[in-house]
Amino acid sequence: STLPTSKQFAQKDGFRFFMEKEIYEQSNVVSDCMLGRIQDEEILFDEIDSSIIEGINEIKICACGTSYHAGLTASYLFERLAKVRCNVVIASEFRYKEPLLTKDTLFIVISQSGETADTLEALKMAKNAGLKTLVVCNVDNSSMTRLADHTILTRAGIEKGVASTKAFSTQTVVLWMLSLYFAKQNDKISKETLQKEIHALREVPKSLIVSDKMHEKTKRLSKRYLHGHGFFFIGRDVFFPLALEGALKLKEISYLHAEGYPAGEMKHGPIALADPELFTIALMPENLLYDKIKSNVEELSARDSTICTISPLEFELSDDFIKTQKTDHYMLEFFEMLVVLQLLSMEISVRLGNDVDMPRNLAKSVTVE
Ligand code: AGP
Repeated sequence: STLPTSKQFAQKDGFRFFMEKEIYEQSNVVSDCMLGRIQDEEILFDEIDSSIIEGINEIKICACGTSYHAGLTASYLFERLAKVRCNVVIASEFRYKEPLLTKDTLFIVISQSGETADTLEALKMAKNAGLKTLVVCNVDNSSMTRLADHTILTRAGIEKGVASTKAFSTQTVVLWMLSLYFAKQNDKISKETLQKEIHALREVPKSLIVSDKMHEKTKRLSKRYLHGHGFFFIGRDVFFPLALEGALKLKEISYLHAEGYPAGEMKHGPIALADPELFTIALMPENLLYDKIKSNVEELSARDSTICTISPLEFELSDDFIKTQKTDHYMLEFFEMLVVLQLLSMEISVRLGNDVDMPRNLAKSVTVE
């Protein structure tokens, strides 16, 4: 490929790709995203007040692609922390399923660009049905921020890589904070639990720091994953949407087939695919359902699948092992593993000679159906 011009080089701050720059920016932009929103005792958003919660008994989230994965992650946090029912629907499915919408539902759309056609249409449907609407968005004055009743900006800065990275991490942090906001306003969370969650939130920027050691590890490992039948990314609970996100990153920029799957679901059919040519990337957090995910991975290993585990704990059956830092909260493990997944897909794409920032067939914002 031609050498970057000095201007292009400057735009990327010396990184090889915008995607690489944006992965390295995550720690700082998540700090920006949280600025002024975390007080000692609670979460506050300038953009919303407690009226957004009044009369609300349910949350419905609609999004596409990576933003959908952030929404799926949030659904676990809203139910676990705020004790509010939350379900998530892919926007292109929502539009035509004749959804049942009730006025006690807060309708949240998530979009980096604020222009995705399917998500915008879902937002219009919710507004026409008289629901309270909120958009979590990275672009102010976009179609969605102009239409929604409320907007919370992710403050990730311009994201140029088609494969979304810092948008996802800031969306997930906003939604985690929002779940705590709901929990406190509705008096559904103890002071101790709220403190523990807020303490963990403050540590997220540290979990997103890219270490040279980790980046070198993913560079070395990537040479092992250039050929084969394909990939399963598996995880449980919030690590299932993270597995979906890792699979999407790989598909988008390496063009290799990858599937994110709930780890507990493998035995209901997909495990029939297990063989040495099928790579399993297993997300194994120490702080959430470790024994469950461990037994799922043992099942796969017994059937000769090639397994890469991403975990703070060494797992003797791994063929490859990427060690993440020990933390005291599963969401910090979530962000540690997110960086690994982003780097691994980028380094595989580099080895395959693909255009990391502008992968084939894709646009940064899908403004048509
Ligand atoms: C993610 O890497 C993709 N670029 C794509 O799935 C994207 O997340 C999706 O098109 C939604 O875009 P939005 O967040 O701008 O609505």
